[in-house]
Amino acid sequence: MVFEAEIRAKLRTWYLTNRRQLPWRETTDPYRIWVSEIILQQTRVEQGLDFYARFLERFPDLESLARSDEEAVLKIWQGLGYYSRARHMLEAARQVSRTGGGKLPGSYAGLLALKGTGPYTAAAVSSIAFGEPRAVVDGNVHRVLSRIYGIAEVPGAYHGSSAVAGAAEELLDREEPGIHNQAVMELGARICTPRNPGCPSCPLRDYCLAFREGRIEEFPPRATAPLRRKRYFNYLVARNGQ
Ligand code: ADE
Repeated sequence: MVFEAEIRAKLRTWYLTNRRQLPWRETTDPYRIWVSEIILQQTRVEQGLDFYARFLERFPDLESLARSDEEAVLKIWQGLGYYSRARHMLEAARQVSRTGGGKLPGSYAGLLALKGTGPYTAAAVSSIAFGEPRAVVDGNVHRVLSRIYGIAEVPGAYHGSSAVAGAAEELLDREEPGIHNQAVMELGARICTPRNPGCPSCPLRDYCLAFREGRIEEFPPRATAPLRRKRYFNYLVARNGQ
């Protein structure tokens, strides 16, 4: 891959001039960044904003969360769905409060050990809060990279090795991984959308295989529906007496 440096530079400039002002982008507090990434796992930015504010008002730091009971946390979480996220956060906060001196782990590996913090969230938080060079691959990133490099990989369907994850790793800006990761996510959310992408205003248009070949619709490929088989069952009921 030859144009990585140019792609990184274009992305960075686009992001710094076009990014949305979001509260978790105004802080360097790892706890706040962690909270935002847990919310954004399954929630859109617009919907997550209010919850984020309410959550932090009620639990401004890890200790206040660790001391809370589950009912209070679930109450704040009401309406967001995927309640296991809230339960796992509480468990993680208690875990850190007991063993980590009340501070969130400062590395990808440490974050990954927390309940409810998987590879995506650990990569996002460690890159944004600690500048650790970890490439994030979420649905948005998958779509952007699938189109740029023409990688026909169904999102989430890989086991072990993933060409998209490999491309993300190669493209990552190791100097500013937090800005870079957010720039790719932002491009996927704002320009490189699933339907009707804004290719005319995309900063990466000149580098995009799918655009160049007029094949945007083909990437990323959709998962094919599992084959339906008709099955017939015959039963023999043995009765004794009646
Ligand atoms: N989606 C999840 N985390 C995000 C972030 N930090 N910026 C943009 N989109 C995101």
